[in-house]
Amino acid sequence: MKTQQELKSVVAQAAVDSIRPLLTQSSVIGIGTGSTVNFFIEHLQQTSLPFKGTVSSSISSTELLERAGLPVIETKCVEDVDVYVDGADEVDPNFALIKGGGGALTQEKIVASMATKFVCIVDNSKLVNILGSFPLPIEVIPSALGIVSKTLRIFGGVPSVRPGHTENGNLIIDVSGLTIENPDALERTLNDVPGVVTVGLFALQRPQLVLVAGQHGTIDVLTRDN
Ligand code: A5P
Repeated sequence: MKTQQELKSVVAQAAVDSIRPLLTQSSVIGIGTGSTVNFFIEHLQQTSLPFKGTVSSSISSTELLERAGLPVIETKCVEDVDVYVDGADEVDPNFALIKGGGGALTQEKIVASMATKFVCIVDNSKLVNILGSFPLPIEVIPSALGIVSKTLRIFGGVPSVRPGHTENGNLIIDVSGLTIENPDALERTLNDVPGVVTVGLFALQRPQLVLVAGQHGTIDVLTRDN
């Protein structure tokens, strides 16, 4: 049996292999955030793939990319991303995700929205039947903390404010106690609450491809129609 770190590395290598046919010399690769993506950056550096540059979803990923000598383009200078590769905190059977455990949910959602294809890379501990065991991160404007927390309680959630600020100077509320049976509806509803910047539900923007590393390092390739 492989360690979780080994599984993250294996699935990251599988992502490098799976995006190869999508790339040309002018391609832009969107880079997520987190420990699985860190392995992806490592493997990307070691494999010669054709691409023009990367767009990063966090300072930590940007630093790793730059240290690896991989070109990083500012997100605001790019309109289209060929493929976005990122991890997740939970993945449901229909590919709806909870993300944002690392706090980069807003930039992650921006880059995911720019991408023609979203490839999610996880080990099998991230697969769930219903989203919500992992507390749902929500980035909020600081002044809206009270009213957003109150609204979340009405939805049956237990809000907890994460220490520190996001890269955008906002706060993150981690919401536990949710059983998310209709992620699309919940994402739409929470998006409409004044003061909410980004909901860590990726249901309206699901990946088309989920690569899952099993306990012994085998890769399941899960696909869905658009
Ligand atoms: C970062 O904000 C998150 O969305 C990550 O994608 C998620 O937490 C997965 O991280 P790991 O790859 O470290 O498990």
